[in-house]
Parts: sequence; C-alpha cells; structure tokens
Amino acid sequence: MKAIISGAEGQVGWELTRKSRIGKIEIAGFSHQMLDITDIRSIQNIVDKYRPDIFINAAAYTRVDQAESESDMAFAVNRAGPANIARVCENSKIPLIHISTDYVFDGSDPTPYTEEHPVSPIGIYGKSKWEGEKIIRETISSHIIIRVSWVFGTHGNNFVKTMLRIGKTNNVIKIVNDQLGCPTPAHNIAAVIWKIVELIPDSNDQSLWGTYHYCGKGETTWYGFAKEIFTLAEPFLPYQSPDIIPVTTSEYPTLAKRPANSVLSCEKIKTRMGIRIQPWRSELYKVLERIIQNE
Ligand SMILES: NC(=O)c1ccc[n+]([C@@H]2O[C@H](COP(=O)([O-])OP(=O)(O)OC[C@H]3O[C@@H](n4cnc5c(N)ncnc54)[C@H](OP(=O)(O)O)[C@@H]3O)[C@@H](O)[C@H]2O)c1
Repeated sequence: MKAIISGAEGQVGWELTRKSRIGKIEIAGFSHQMLDITDIRSIQNIVDKYRPDIFINAAAYTRVDQAESESDMAFAVNRAGPANIARVCENSKIPLIHISTDYVFDGSDPTPYTEEHPVSPIGIYGKSKWEGEKIIRETISSHIIIRVSWVFGTHGNNFVKTMLRIGKTNNVIKIVNDQLGCPTPAHNIAAVIWKIVELIPDSNDQSLWGTYHYCGKGETTWYGFAKEIFTLAEPFLPYQSPDIIPVTTSEYPTLAKRPANSVLSCEKIKTRMGIRIQPWRSELYKVLERIIQNE
C-alpha cells in the first residue's frame, strides 16, 4: 500500500514522513517546494506518477494572526488546495485524509466540542479551514477529516518552541489564562493517521468515512501549558525559568480572535476506530527532551 503526503515539512507532515515505510505502508512525502496544493496539475502529476492508495493532506496555511491580512493566501491554501486534492482523489478513486482545526468553532460553548456541534469560525484561518472541509465533503465521499488542536512537536514552529525561545531573554512572560484547549503532540496525530490508514483497506464499512476529533488528553489554558513547559524543561535549561504571569485575552489583544473554549470531544474516534487518547503531558516531556538536545 502506498501513501502520499503533502505538506511534508510541516509539524504533522514531518512526523508522518519520518519513516519511508510503516508496516505494509510505503510513504512518499512532498514538501511545499515539491508540491504546491494550489496547483491542481502538480497534484495530478504526482498522483499519476506514484499511483498511491491514499492521499494525506498535511499542508495548510496555519499563521492564525497573519491570515487576517492575508486572507487570499489563507483561502487559496486552506480552501482551494483541499478542493484540488479532493477532485484529483475522487477522479482517481483514492481516499483522502485531511487535517482540520478546533478553530472552526467559536468557543462560546463551555462543553467539549463534538463533531455534531455547529461550526462558527471567528477568524479568517478558521473560516478558510471550514471552507476546505466543506469542499472535501461535497467532492469525495471516501474522506476522513481529523480536527486537531494546539499542535506541538520537535519540527516546525509551535508554542513550546516559542516559550523556550522567549524564556531565554525574558524573566517574566505574560500568558493568556482564559482560553481553554488540549495540546496535541504532532507525533500522536501521525500515529493516529497511520492507525486509520491500516483500518481503511480491511473495512467495507462506509460509515468509517467522515469527520473526527482528536486531541491530547487533559484540558488546560495557554498559561497552564506554559507553566507545564517550564516545569518539565527546567532541569535541562541553561537559563533560569521565567515567571509565568496569567493574563486575560482582553489584556493580550491579537490580530485574530481565538475561541475561549477549544476543547474537542474525542469520543467518536475512540469508539468508532478504537483510538487511544494519549495524555499530552507525558508526550510533552519527550518533545522537550528532543528540542533541547537538538539546540
Ligand atoms: N499548528 C496548530 O496548532 C494546529 C492546530 C489545529 C489544527 N492544525 C491543522 O493541522 C494540520 C497540520 O498543521 P501543522 O501544525 O503541521 O502546520 P505547519 O507546521 O504550518 O505545516 C504546514 C505545511 O504546509 C505547507 N504549505 C503551505 N502552503 C502550501 C501549499 N500551497 N502547498 C503545499 N504545502 C503548503 C507549509 O509550507 P511553508 O512553511 O513553506 O509555507 C508547511 O510545511 C493543518 O491542517 C492545520 O490547519 C494545526
């Protein structure tokens, strides 16, 4: 079985393409430079050349604040890109796995968001990702959309790396304490995707297709996440951990609004696919070790 992956240099794409084979699955990854998903002919060429059994789209425009002033770019990558991939996959009869985001919700509901919750994105990034989801559903029935949240890993940019970087030069860091969510390790998302890929060929069960939520176990705030990062990293750090001060969203304005509650319910993926939800805290320790060793 052959899988091709777009966005192979991103956090999740990198984890998906670390090995050239997993069990019976042969993996071919394409970075942005190798495959631009806004160009349908490039997608078609790669599909014609590699003849994959599954396409995994890990490419996205993920700069949440910048999206507010670069909406054309955000929609090109997050709506037109998945639309192109879905068209090629549908014509070539290849299932598509696509990754989406908790930011499709407005976060006004205090309970964990299920797949059935109405979406109502409050920023350009969330809107563009929602449009991408819709086009996939309209174009190809053999699809899986996995919404994830607060992604971190060893490769690429993320909150963990930002904290370690600004902690070097700041004794005090103010972090928002009124946005709730679940951090999710990129390597766990990759493992979940490979588990899903394994389920697909054995399954005649069409009800597997659809939308699923997956995030790390244990909700926190960005403040809680930052505290945990420095608590776990402290023994390895060549500098004194900064003081982390909780602030409200209104005290820390950003270009894009973010949902107050981003917690995703993972019941569906657990029950339908037998996927275990891993606690993010123990995984954070492993990721920190790797980041600090590589510095
Ligand atoms: N990061 C998060 O916290 C988060 C949270 C929820 C959901 N998600 C979703 O999870 C998925 C993976 O996110 P991630 O954190 O791995 O993102 P990431 O690290 O930003 O990686 C995205 C990759 O896509 C590439 N890309 C951008 N435009 C492209 C194009 N036109 N054609 C091909 N590749 C292109 C980027 O390349 P360049 O760097 O060259 O632009 C980058 O390598 C995305 O669907 C994202 O929306 C992420």
